[in-house]
Amino acid sequence: MSDLQDSPFLRACRREPVPHTPVWFMRQAGRSLPEYRELRGTGSILDAIHTPDLATEITLQPVRRHGVDAAVLFSDIVVPLQAVGFGVDVVPGTGPVVEEPFAGTADLPRLRPLEAEADIPYVLETVRNLVTELEVPLIGFAGAPFTVASYLIEGRPSRTYAKTKAMMLGEPALWGALIDRLADLALAFIRAQVEAGATAVQLFDSWAGALTPEQYAAHVLPASQKVFAGLADLGVPRVHFGVGTGELLGLFAEAGADVVGVDWRVPIDAGWERIGLDKGVQGNLDPAACLAPWPAVEHEVLGVLDRIGGRPGHIFNLGHGVLPETDPTVLTRIVELVHERTAS
Ligand code: CP3
Repeated sequence: MSDLQDSPFLRACRREPVPHTPVWFMRQAGRSLPEYRELRGTGSILDAIHTPDLATEITLQPVRRHGVDAAVLFSDIVVPLQAVGFGVDVVPGTGPVVEEPFAGTADLPRLRPLEAEADIPYVLETVRNLVTELEVPLIGFAGAPFTVASYLIEGRPSRTYAKTKAMMLGEPALWGALIDRLADLALAFIRAQVEAGATAVQLFDSWAGALTPEQYAAHVLPASQKVFAGLADLGVPRVHFGVGTGELLGLFAEAGADVVGVDWRVPIDAGWERIGLDKGVQGNLDPAACLAPWPAVEHEVLGVLDRIGGRPGHIFNLGHGVLPETDPTVLTRIVELVHERTAS
């Protein structure tokens, strides 16, 4: 445990010098790995998450294969919602689907508080298994209030977030009550993972980039701040991530994380300036670049490292999750390349 505190990943989260830049990949456990597809079969991902031995093995697969510097728990942002009985499934190729979307005040009691030991014992068992086996930090996570609200209101993945924004702007009291409950759920979900042994956490506000800065500041930021403030006493690094947040990065950084992720659309040095150099930065190789021939991949990876220029506090990652069609051997080469080029 104490030697993990000295790991490149946790050192980088604290902006300390590192023996090499740490690397992990969002969605590193999953469909780009043949060994994952073989283990998973065709059931719902939620069934796999409910089976600790399976979830443990799936979390370990990319760590063994790629030599990444952190593991990310095999779970999903909808797990606490399913656990409190909201009625949600994850459909392969689509994502979260909600049978009866959130539509009004009468739906608020469907979001009762999460009692981790009783509601998600399988997640805690997976985390406890993992921390005995892993030699790198384990990242626990939750979906941020806005991103989770968008699934609950739309009922399925959306491009426009039309219903979500209509509620946010048209029924601010209802919206506030909804995302406050989702902040409590995210907080309880993450706290339980850390108490079971996770050594870092990430809050995914994947779809916050759909908002204007004014909308984000008025209707979303307070709930995300509640989550990060509620994690402060745990003493683990807190990472925040969203896609398309270029224009929001300054506000995003005010949510309270120690490290902020940047997607590939923003040059990472410019992103870091917007976030503030008093925080760490994570990113930001274009996930689609991993499908190009190796010399082009190498060029893109080195471009990210050049922009960082050796400043402590960088965690190398993609700008969003691994695309399923990615050749996993390319990911391994990226880990090797980043380690080699940043070795001190
Ligand atoms: O390596 C990892 O990152 C594994 C853990 C992980 C999963 N989901 C497993 C998963 C994490 C961190 C998530 C978070 C998650 N889930 C987010 C935030 C991250 C992001 O990508 O922005 C979101 C928005 C979700 C909701 C969700 N779950 C979506 C959009 C999908 C994709 C649907 C599809 O099939 O393309 C899922 C399903 C899902 N979650 C898969 C995995 C490995 C793939 C489906 C499967 O294997 O059945």
